[in-house]
Amino acid sequence: MEYTAPISRRADQVFTPALHFYYPFSIVRGEGTYVITDDGKRLLDFSSGLAVLNIGHNHPQVVDAARRQMERLIHTGGVYLNETTVTAAEMLLSIMPEGLECLFFSNSGAEAVDGALKLARFVTGRQGIVSCTGAFHGRTFGALSVTTSSAAYRARYHPLLPSIYQMPYPYCFRCPFRRTPVSCGQHCLSELETIFRHRIPPEEIAAVLIEPILGEGGYSPAPVPFLKKLRSLCNRHGILLIFDEVQSGMGRTGQWFSCEHAGVSPDIMTVAKGIASGFPLSAVVAGRNIMEQWPPGAHGTTFGGNHVSCAASIATIKVIREEGLLEKARVQGQEVLERLRRLESTHRLVGQVRGYGFMIGVEFVTEEGEPNGDACQKVINACLQKGLILIGCGRERHVIRFIPPLTVSREELESALEILEEAIRGMS
Ligand SMILES: Cc1ncc(COP(=O)(O)O)c(C=O)c1O
Repeated sequence: MEYTAPISRRADQVFTPALHFYYPFSIVRGEGTYVITDDGKRLLDFSSGLAVLNIGHNHPQVVDAARRQMERLIHTGGVYLNETTVTAAEMLLSIMPEGLECLFFSNSGAEAVDGALKLARFVTGRQGIVSCTGAFHGRTFGALSVTTSSAAYRARYHPLLPSIYQMPYPYCFRCPFRRTPVSCGQHCLSELETIFRHRIPPEEIAAVLIEPILGEGGYSPAPVPFLKKLRSLCNRHGILLIFDEVQSGMGRTGQWFSCEHAGVSPDIMTVAKGIASGFPLSAVVAGRNIMEQWPPGAHGTTFGGNHVSCAASIATIKVIREEGLLEKARVQGQEVLERLRRLESTHRLVGQVRGYGFMIGVEFVTEEGEPNGDACQKVINACLQKGLILIGCGRERHVIRFIPPLTVSREELESALEILEEAIRGMS
């Protein structure tokens, strides 16, 4: 076996091309906001492992908790109970919005979404599911069936799950109805009513699934009035409202969950990514009245609720509480937002800067206002040259995700902002 070839060549030999890496180089260590490459470069990591490392790489309390758990017990599957997993569930439920009282642990975001869809169908006895155009919910067959952020993810996999309907996501900067916030009136919701009138009656819809902040699809928050009206519409028709907080949850927006900015609680929530600082863990969370209708055997898992992941999750929640990271993300995130927003008027390529806390999107546009993936990629490349790692999102990869760990220091934040602003100015 040849282990001396460059790592990218070795990777090409062993991985399917379907496995995509944003950057072609290899990382050997992670330290807080930094990663260290195999040739010794120290890079500021504002990708946070795809919005997972909300308290940075290898937080000492997470490492310590995981190590101690590993020395005691790694896995029991569904064979026995274990206190760490019960405590992790209690901790997670203690930070949930109102009415979410029981959970099911799984491993990934897509698995949680699949679980939520199964739960909604099981409990309501209805088949229809409504999701949003442009949304990303994962890659398993269930999650993919409700994912429409890119046709490339769905190509050649049809037929997907039946009885899935799409309503437009309220992506206001690119309003699908060319309305403005003043003339809007939450028109996207009338499209939902059109689905009810023409395609499937509301009595046959189990759930509406939505990301309160569109993630992969472009880092665009749904307006508060929209989420409130959607909640009432679901109540009126006995439809379960599912919020996918896989990317927007666990403190990233300055609240534990982004729906708290709107003061709207779902019936079912999916959580993953930041839940255990990089250890695989996810959860489907719902009210007791819903969960108690899901009998033994209706859903299951071998690895979900792994004890090491659960120990890491407990430590993660403690760190966010003890270090006051929600407040920090709210305050410093707002400062970053205001500063980057100045670019909207001073730089023609910056169409809009938006978000909450440390979940900020910078959207790039062409002269005609179309998505400008090319400019976005050039800015990302220029930032990399200066030692800052950023990643894009959006249909045309035309939005930069500005997602540092919530533990980022003032100096790191300042240095990242200077690099980003300089890269954007360099585009004129
Ligand atoms: C909102 C949302 N839901 C679900 C997923 C899927 O998560 P995973 O990749 O862990 O399956 C993602 C991943 O980016 C996501 O952003």
